[in-house]
Amino acid sequence: RMLKRQMECRSDIHRLNAPLLAIYESLIPPKEEKTKQQQLLALLEKLVWKEWPQAKLFPYGSCVNDFGVSRSDIDICLALNEDINNKSEILLKLADILQSDNLQNVQALTRARVPIVKLMDPVTGISCDICINNVLAVVNTKLLRDYAQIDARLRQLAFIVKHWAKSRGVNETYRGTLSSYAYVLMCIHFLQQRRPAILPCLQGMEKTYNVTVDNIECAYFDQIEKLHNFGSSNKETVAQLVWGFFNYWAYGHDYANSVISVRTGSIISKQEKDWTRRIGNDRHLICIEDPFETSHDLGRVVDKFSIRVLREEFERAADIMQFDPNPCVKLFEPY
Ligand code: CTP
Ligand code: MG
Repeated sequence: RMLKRQMECRSDIHRLNAPLLAIYESLIPPKEEKTKQQQLLALLEKLVWKEWPQAKLFPYGSCVNDFGVSRSDIDICLALNEDINNKSEILLKLADILQSDNLQNVQALTRARVPIVKLMDPVTGISCDICINNVLAVVNTKLLRDYAQIDARLRQLAFIVKHWAKSRGVNETYRGTLSSYAYVLMCIHFLQQRRPAILPCLQGMEKTYNVTVDNIECAYFDQIEKLHNFGSSNKETVAQLVWGFFNYWAYGHDYANSVISVRTGSIISKQEKDWTRRIGNDRHLICIEDPFETSHDLGRVVDKFSIRVLREEFERAADIMQFDPNPCVKLFEPY
């Protein structure tokens, strides 16, 4: 199936630019949402500090990484300055505290891969997930946000890809498709690989930011203001990039042998990572290396059924971008 038919881009691709940008614009959250998020964060801090005066709350994920569309849920990390041997106990206590303050649908999910407390704030209408001491997520959120500041086309591409994935039902990890986080990494990788490159490889540059979290060194160049011209010699438009992204995942990617790696800014081999066979539930059918937790394949949720769904969706999207007279409708058609 590999390289079955990588295509030459349609000649009227520029016609798709304005409608794609209009979709992107329509997804950007209005300013009031930030205010509401801050309001909720302040409320949660007040409640949490009663029990844990030393605690800090760090928002992470799409509410701070610049890849959040309108009306997203928010993700928050409760950082406790203590060694925790029983997260469940803390989550239950947290749920208890929050329950008593008018927050709705408070629920402790202690057995999830990342255990959380879920809640809904009736005042702001915002839903939120709170996890404990997941500092790595706070750090990878900063990495994503820093990439987003370098070239506006990343945010445009990622919004469109996320919107496509949600519309088509392929943004559901519990059903074997990919997380938003994985899709954003796929977009970053894609822009690192354009020639000329649209994004640099921040982890391959001088390390101006350096923290160690859970024994993992997280270091990269974060002086983004020095990189605002980085991609300017590449003139590709969002329409060309959306076309290229789907064409790459439909017909260009070598699923049998390749791992995409934002950390190195390149493709690496499954062999090199020892991701060549199924171990436990990790099948490595599509391989996306986490930039910091490098033993973590974000494609590990994908199984032999969902890989077919995913690849068919990539092909559908690529074909629509190539042949459909009105791709902006068809691409996002609910499944
Ligand atoms: N995350 C992670 N490892 C994963 C999945 C997620 O570390 N396997 C962390 C990342 O910090 C990511 C955050 O959790 O930014 C939220 O993940 P996700 O919900 O997939 O992305 P969002 O950007 O929040 O997207 P959405 O708008 O769909 O909620
Ligand atoms: Mg989220």
